[in-house]
Amino acid sequence: MCGIVGYIGKRSAQEVLLAGLERLEYRGYDSAGVAIHTETGLCVQKAKGRISVLQNVLGKSPLKGTIGIGHTRWATHGKPSDANAHPHTDNDCAISVVHNGIIENYMELKQQLIAQGATFSSETDTEVIAHLIASVYTGDLVAAVRNAVSHIRGAFALAVLAAQQPDQLVVVRMHSPLVIGIGHGEYVIASDIPAILPYTREVCVLEDGDVVVLSYDAMKLMDVQGSTIERAPLHIDWDVATAEKNGFEHFMLKEMHEQPNAYRETMRTRMHDGRIVLTELDAFVAVLPKIGRIHIVACGTAYHAGLIGQKLIERIAGIPVEVDVASEYRYREPIIDAHTWVIVVSQSGETADTLAALREAKRRGARVLAITNVVASSVAREADDVLLTMAGPEIAVASTKAYTTMVVVFQLLSLWLAQERKIVLRSECEDWWRALEQLPVHAQHVLQQAPKWHAIAQKISLHDHVFFIGRGLDYAVAQEGSLKLKEISYIHSEAYAAGELKHGTLALISEGVPVIALATQADVCEKMLSNIIEVQARGAYVIGIGAPQLRGIVDEYIDIPQTIDAFSSALSVIPLQFVAYYAACIRGNDVDKPRNLAKSVTVE
Ligand code: M6R
Repeated sequence: MCGIVGYIGKRSAQEVLLAGLERLEYRGYDSAGVAIHTETGLCVQKAKGRISVLQNVLGKSPLKGTIGIGHTRWATHGKPSDANAHPHTDNDCAISVVHNGIIENYMELKQQLIAQGATFSSETDTEVIAHLIASVYTGDLVAAVRNAVSHIRGAFALAVLAAQQPDQLVVVRMHSPLVIGIGHGEYVIASDIPAILPYTREVCVLEDGDVVVLSYDAMKLMDVQGSTIERAPLHIDWDVATAEKNGFEHFMLKEMHEQPNAYRETMRTRMHDGRIVLTELDAFVAVLPKIGRIHIVACGTAYHAGLIGQKLIERIAGIPVEVDVASEYRYREPIIDAHTWVIVVSQSGETADTLAALREAKRRGARVLAITNVVASSVAREADDVLLTMAGPEIAVASTKAYTTMVVVFQLLSLWLAQERKIVLRSECEDWWRALEQLPVHAQHVLQQAPKWHAIAQKISLHDHVFFIGRGLDYAVAQEGSLKLKEISYIHSEAYAAGELKHGTLALISEGVPVIALATQADVCEKMLSNIIEVQARGAYVIGIGAPQLRGIVDEYIDIPQTIDAFSSALSVIPLQFVAYYAACIRGNDVDKPRNLAKSVTVE
């Protein structure tokens, strides 16, 4: 997730690009840069850090010109640094490129380009694109771009300039967002609509495979083969605040809707030819045979993802796992030896308790894997190995897409461990593989049902206490659902292992008390049904999620698409997120910034 912008028109390109980058800063802020055609040629200026750092540099030595491209980076390939900042160029600075997305075959392309004489100055996948375009460029930028993208696999939105063609800007979209604002005698391109709104409300939303050539007086839309495409622009009525949320009322709502795509991004480069490929763990493979147990350590929602990880790793890879809340872990004198692998999980990578637990684990000699959403975070820097969740920046305090992508990473990791330990049957592998591939589509299907859950939230919002029950993986999901509800709706809620209720908590169930029951696990489904009947007998109003057998028994039934039981959590949690969201809205709460909470908890 990065933000790209581009401009061609009569204004100062530098001003338009910097203003656009500010509006896209939510997409990443590891570094920023611009390339502008000036009187002295195509000039690039870039700097590590937030956009304000680049603004200072350009404030002192401005780049004067009316056509340019810009980028704000969310690091994936290569740490945040000046060298890894975009725009990237070929060796002669003939081509300048900004990119949002991931080039899957960049290593292969890089080797070919090096063999042809290219030298690389960054660790990014993007630099490959600049060299590739330059290698086929013969004075026609759009022809060179079309040729180059036919060799690229992956997701990309690109904006490209050629030093020899100072009156042309070429853009391409493939699986990463890109829009073009059509003004009077000017065009603004951007990853997202807010960057365009100060200049125009007429927008052309690009589709996969679109290539566009922009000059000072014309815009030409075509496909990768060069055939012209006609598409009427859209008129955008949103104000800027709404546009930043992509038309959604809250960041949380936007982020819940981003989950199918986030699942795709998390899996994209990690599933090849029937195998899970975690190149990030290449160095760890030699250590794996020594690992006898795993400790998973995290806080809050990330801890709940860890609970899912525990069950998946034990069930699929057969390694014993303990899960701890980070603030407890370091003080319980954990037994760590050379056979212990410690996995810390943190969206922000900055949570003080998790970081302290990581340091404690390392002090005691453990090898540490970080599962995080932020590549250059403290946790990522201090861990031995890192698996990124690829959710993109999460703004709402209540974690949604970061949690579900952590779950997807644990699904991938458990299969990878089983694969490396050679303990899975080929037939089982195929089922798991298919289930993983279908997850984004299934998640989309779940999201389409969301409006139906408003009525459930309406009923729940009238209560002071809500209970969540489940068994096994469903109990872990119940804990996350309960946290989501309490943190944004301020309704008191508790999650219980369904079988445990009768050992005390059942006393709290009385007429009309809402109980949300998850039943996605076939092996304990009958037992769950008994637990549901037990609470109904005490008057509970039961919302059931999962097994079709619940239909007709519970008061409200939420269906989720059929998948293998082990992977159902990435789907069953989505209705719980929505119930919490709607309940918070109905109660008039500040959904994105709930009281007393912060997105990143950097104190112990
Ligand atoms: O950034 P982290 O994942 O380390 O944050 C841990 C918790 O503070 C976090 O998951 C918190 O529980 C969520 N914001 C709740 O939605």
